[in-house]
Parts: sequence; C-alpha cells; structure tokens
Amino acid sequence: ITMRKEAAHALERMFQAAKEEGGYTLIAVSGFRSYGQQSAIFERKVKNVGKEKAMLLVAPPGASEHQLGLAMDLGTPQNQKLNEAFGDTEAGEWVRTNCHRFGFIIRYKDEWTDITGYADEPWHVRYVGVEHATRIYEMDIPLEYYIDTLRTVQYDNILNE
Ligand code: DAL
Ligand code: ZN
Repeated sequence: ITMRKEAAHALERMFQAAKEEGGYTLIAVSGFRSYGQQSAIFERKVKNVGKEKAMLLVAPPGASEHQLGLAMDLGTPQNQKLNEAFGDTEAGEWVRTNCHRFGFIIRYKDEWTDITGYADEPWHVRYVGVEHATRIYEMDIPLEYYIDTLRTVQYDNILNE
C-alpha cells in the first residue's frame, strides 16, 4: 500500500500521534491505485449494486483521488472493511478532529453528497498539506467550495492591486 512520499510521511506522523494521544491503531487499507485497479474496483461495484449506486461509492477510472496517490482509506485492527462503522469508532472520531494537523481532510461527508458526488466516507482522507487542511477543517466545507473560495480571494487580490 503506497502513496506519494510527502503524504506518506504525514500519514506516518498521524498514525504515531493517534497511538500516542489516543492509544488508537490506524491501518492503511487502500492507497495509490492505478487506472486498471480503479477500473476493476468500479466495475465490480457496478456489477454488485448497479451503475447509479456505484457512482456514489466509487469513482470511475480516471477520476479517483486514489490515482493521484494523495488519498488513503483507513481502518482499525477490528474493522478494515471501509464502512460507515469506522466513523463511529473512537479512532474514526480522532481522525475526524485531528487529521488536519497532519495535512489531511475528510473528503466525503453525508451533507456534502450533492457537491462532491459521493456518499459519506469517514475512512477516506485526502492530503492537501497542513495549511489548507486546517482552513478547510475550520471552515467545514468540501474541497470543491474551498477551491472556489481560493479562486475568489485571488481574484479579489488582483482587483485590489
Ligand atoms: N471511493 C472514492 C470516491 C474513490 O473511489 O475514489
Ligand atoms: Zn478512498
């Protein structure tokens, strides 16, 4: 299980802190995926639940953050199935409130489905760096909105020069 080096180092620091601060063991379940791997996961999901539902759960090949090497799916020793139960564990709660300190965001939340296009995924963290992750956490907005905000801010700066 791999991911980009900068993100991987941050993930290791987060795992260490989870252990030290909460006694939680986090497990990396799914990281970088090739186009072929994402394609296989997507096709399998389509077969199991139909295309419409699959589109809410798995990104089509070419559109997954896992293909960027910036996303990691997390589990615990008790649960590595990547289901909603992770969000209800103490470890999942710790990740939700602390992952920004290490540069990660919870990318997909229930209330953001209309914007992100995906269902709740409390196990999926995306690396954006500490500065952005902290602002996104404090603003509690999906990455799509945050990027819009950055664009507007930059545009305003240009106008004010
Ligand atoms: N489950 C997320 C959306 C992915 O497949 O990238
Ligand atoms: Zn994921």
